[in-house]
Amino acid sequence: MYTQLQLRDSARPPVNVSTLRRMKEQGEKIASITCYDASFAALVDAADVDVVLVGDSLGMVIQGYDTTVPVTLDNVIYHCKAVARGLVRPFLMADMPFMTYTSREQALQNAVRLMQEGGAKMVKLEGGAGQVEIVEFLAKHDIPLCAHLGLKPQSVHKTGGFRVQGREDAAAEQMARDAEALQDAGADIVLLECIPAALGAAITRRLHVPVIGIGAGPDTDGQILVLYDVLDITPGRKPRFVRNYMAGHDSPLAGIRAYVEAVKSRAYPAPEHCF
Ligand code: KIV
Repeated sequence: MYTQLQLRDSARPPVNVSTLRRMKEQGEKIASITCYDASFAALVDAADVDVVLVGDSLGMVIQGYDTTVPVTLDNVIYHCKAVARGLVRPFLMADMPFMTYTSREQALQNAVRLMQEGGAKMVKLEGGAGQVEIVEFLAKHDIPLCAHLGLKPQSVHKTGGFRVQGREDAAAEQMARDAEALQDAGADIVLLECIPAALGAAITRRLHVPVIGIGAGPDTDGQILVLYDVLDITPGRKPRFVRNYMAGHDSPLAGIRAYVEAVKSRAYPAPEHCF
């Protein structure tokens, strides 16, 4: 009983939402990565990653689809269970897949499954102002939440492709307002994907909750990348923000460690990774 309390006094206490808030306050960068199985989970833990996401990107890197749309809740739960078994210190977050949060009740039921069956400590959903009511409802039930803004891969068929978001002033201001509204509704973390670096910096300044970026510039409170991109496993053309950490390293653990160090020391992302 109270394993978490015993571990709190260990040399590697588990990361929780308070740790992440403190890191933002103290200016320590949050290193985050996706993961889909227990073996890699043990490696990302050993590399001292702070936050691990079982992303619906598993649809692309594990299942071979060209978008995240086909991924089901059961798929995420399956991978989340495996990842949870491999982790001790990192904070585990899981994606709510496409169309699993269309009403307050459906969202709550599915978030509970991700936490109870999958072992997730936080759920992530994509959306702007339209998700405020859902976020408020989940937060009222003490579901820890990450709101994903900017490029929203689940909306790719509606928006017309994987494109940088928030380039125009009006869209940028709307995104910043959405981020504030989601924070005020109870989101504990905001994740920004594929936006101009200046907008990433502005939103991070405006919010008191931690902001994690992927292709959102160097000034967010933390960075996240897809594990298979870090390890140069993903074939084909890579997004601008991807950096191959296997270059110069002889093992996946060394590559992941190099990524964590680059985030912590602010060496990543460099100007060539930014929009
Ligand atoms: O599913 C995923 O891997 C994600 C990251 C791109 C942040 O949402």
